[in-house]
Amino acid sequence: RRYRIALIPGDGIGGEVVPAARQVLESLGLDLTFVELAAGWETFQREGTALPAETLAALERCHGALFGAVSSPSHRVEGYTSPIIALRRHLDLYANLRPVVSAPVPGSQPDVDLLIVRENTECLYVKQEQLEDDGETAVARRVITRRASARIARVAFERARARQAASARPGRSPRVTVVHKANVLPLTDGLFRETALAVAADYPDVAVEEQIVDSMAYRLIREPQRYDVILAPNLYGDILSDAAAALVGGLGLVASANVGDRFVVAEPVHGSAPDIAGQGIANPVATVRAAALLLAALGEPEAAGRIERAVGRVLADGIWTPDLGGTARTGQVTRAIIQALQSS
Ligand code: NAI
Ligand code: MG
Repeated sequence: RRYRIALIPGDGIGGEVVPAARQVLESLGLDLTFVELAAGWETFQREGTALPAETLAALERCHGALFGAVSSPSHRVEGYTSPIIALRRHLDLYANLRPVVSAPVPGSQPDVDLLIVRENTECLYVKQEQLEDDGETAVARRVITRRASARIARVAFERARARQAASARPGRSPRVTVVHKANVLPLTDGLFRETALAVAADYPDVAVEEQIVDSMAYRLIREPQRYDVILAPNLYGDILSDAAAALVGGLGLVASANVGDRFVVAEPVHGSAPDIAGQGIANPVATVRAAALLLAALGEPEAAGRIERAVGRVLADGIWTPDLGGTARTGQVTRAIIQALQSS
C-alpha cells in the first residue's frame, strides 16, 4: 500500500526530530510520500494563525501525520490556540494512546508494559473558561458525554484484547483500569465510570477494575508493573501519561498517537525544548517511536515492530543523547537506528 504522510515539525527541536524520524521512515522500503506542513508559534507569528487553513486542507489529502512539537505561551495571547488541540478536535482524533514500556536506559523501571487510553476531545479541554464580572473568580466548564465515554471505553477494551492476542504476555490476563474521581464528581466522572463499566460487560474476557485518580497516580509510581490498559478522561489521562513517561526513561523516549476513525496524528510526548534547540542533541527516539505508532495505526504493524526492535537495540547498545546521560548527537542515534533496521 502507498501512504501519504504529513510532517508537521512545529517549533524548536520539532525541526530536528521530525526530519530524523523521516529518515528512519524512508529507510523502511515502504511506499511513503511526505508532505511538510506548517503549524505552531513561529507560524502564528508569521501568519497570524497557529494552524493555517492550507495545513488543514493538505491534511485532508494525507493518511496520517507526524507532529513534532509546538511552543505555546503560558499567558493568553489574542488569537493563539494550540494547534495540536485544534487538530484533535477538527479531525475528531478521539483516542490518545500512550504505550509505556520499559527501556534499557538508566532511570527506567523494569517490566513495565502498559497502555494509557485517554479520552481526547472533551473534559476540561473544551476550553470554555469564563472570568466573572468582578474579575475575582474564574470558572471552567468540564464536559463528559456518554457518547465520547463509550467510544473511548471501547477503544480501551479492544486494545486490551489485541495486546493479549499479540503478546508476549503469557500468564497475564488482559485488564482495563478505569480512572475517575466519581466520589467527588458523581455526575461527570460518575457518567464516565458508569459508561465504561457498561461497555466492560461486552468484554467478559477482559478484566475490569476501577481506581480513583489520586490513588492511581500513587500506584502507578509504586507498582507500574501491575497495569495493562489504563482508561481515563482527558485531563487525568494527560497528567498520568506524562508521569508514566517518567517511569520508563523520560520525555525523550515516549510517544503517543491521537487516533480517530479516519486519521491519526502521532507525536512525541515532549515539547519544543527551547533550551536545547539548534544544538543537534535532541533525542530523536520519541519521534521515531511516534512514527512507529503512526505506521501501526495505518495498518503496518510489522514495520512498526521493526522500528521498535531497532530502537530497543540502539538503546541497549548505549547509544544515548545527553538527556539519557550519553554523548551521542541526534544524527548518530538516527543513523544507528537505521543501521539496526537494515541489519535486522
Ligand atoms: P519540553 O518537553 O519542551 O522540555 C522539558 C525538558 O526536557 C527540557 O529540559 C528539554 O531540553 C528536555 N527535552 C524535551 N525533549 C527532549 C528531547 N527529545 N531530547 C532531549 N531533551 C529533551 O517542555 P517545556 O520546557 O515545559 O516546554 C517548552 C515548550 O514546549 C513550551 O512552549 C510548551 O508549551 C511546549 N510544549 C509543547 C508540547 C507539544 O507540542 N505537544 C508538549 C509540551 C510542551
Ligand atoms: Mg501532555
